[in-house]
Amino acid sequence: MAPGVHTVAVIGTGKIGELMLSGLLRAGWPVDRLLATTRRPARAEEITARYGVAVVDNLTAVTEADVLAVAVKPQDAEALLEEIGPKVPADKLVISLCAGLPTSFFARRLPEGTPVIRVMTNTPALVDEAMTAISAGSHATDEHLALAEEMFRPLGATMRVPESQQDAVTALSGSGPAYFYLLVEAMVDAGILLGLPRQVAHELIVQTAIGSAIMLRDSGEHPVKLREAVTSPAGTTISAIRELENHGVRAALLAALEAARDRAREIAAQHE
Ligand SMILES: NC(=O)c1ccc[n+]([C@@H]2O[C@H](COP(=O)([O-])OP(=O)(O)OC[C@H]3O[C@@H](n4cnc5c(N)ncnc54)[C@H](OP(=O)(O)O)[C@@H]3O)[C@@H](O)[C@H]2O)c1
Repeated sequence: MAPGVHTVAVIGTGKIGELMLSGLLRAGWPVDRLLATTRRPARAEEITARYGVAVVDNLTAVTEADVLAVAVKPQDAEALLEEIGPKVPADKLVISLCAGLPTSFFARRLPEGTPVIRVMTNTPALVDEAMTAISAGSHATDEHLALAEEMFRPLGATMRVPESQQDAVTALSGSGPAYFYLLVEAMVDAGILLGLPRQVAHELIVQTAIGSAIMLRDSGEHPVKLREAVTSPAGTTISAIRELENHGVRAALLAALEAARDRAREIAAQHE
């Protein structure tokens, strides 16, 4: 399966589905090789007006597309698969973007032999800085995985993981942006406590976050090394770090991510 030569249909073009469509278009995927489906006519008009992509009904998408990217909410997936499941020819590739749904959920509702891939992306897809984890379900080959990578690369970085790790991925990178936003929010408050105007505190900490993230990504250094470079003996940083350790920030993160992973498992179990 070579990129751009297959027709991709986004089934359920909401927030994530629209991000996928716009990413594929920016990456040069031909507009006549893209289809979208929606539940509401007003949304269909919006998508066609914005991207020139043809909006069709779900069954037409199943017939005409080679790749079906399912981007409905997990709770809508059952009804969708009742409608299209038995009609999907087994040579189509189904890519699920539904958080928490195991590929076995799809396999049970699709004809035997249909390849299924599960992806977990995150909201920085909005600025082409997503982290997308891709897992092969039953019958998905290396070629299918390569095609999925090609489709998600325009939205940021991609990584292959075994499906058994997807609940941990959801806890780490799926929910991850929220943890960083919470930290920034708290640091802005701290700046205000120290007497800085809100806007000044915001600008200082956002640029610090961006700079730190780029150094983490590009320097190749371990985070400990990067932190040590800012931590001089008897200096200001170590005073702050002592308080972070006293307040159990590290332990809180371990517990928080474990809780998110457990919740992801619970949601998956509801959709077995
Ligand atoms: N948002 C995120 O940050 C994020 C991140 C990672 C993964 N995800 C996953 O991506 C999926 C979509 O999330 P979202 O935030 O994009 O939700 P969303 O904005 O509600 O998009 C889902 C869209 O699917 C449409 N739809 C539902 N049933 C349909 C059907 N049978 N046929 C055609 N269209 C149908 C909905 O129509 P209506 O407009 O009528 O409701 C809606 O426009 C979810 O499974 C979520 O877990 C989301």
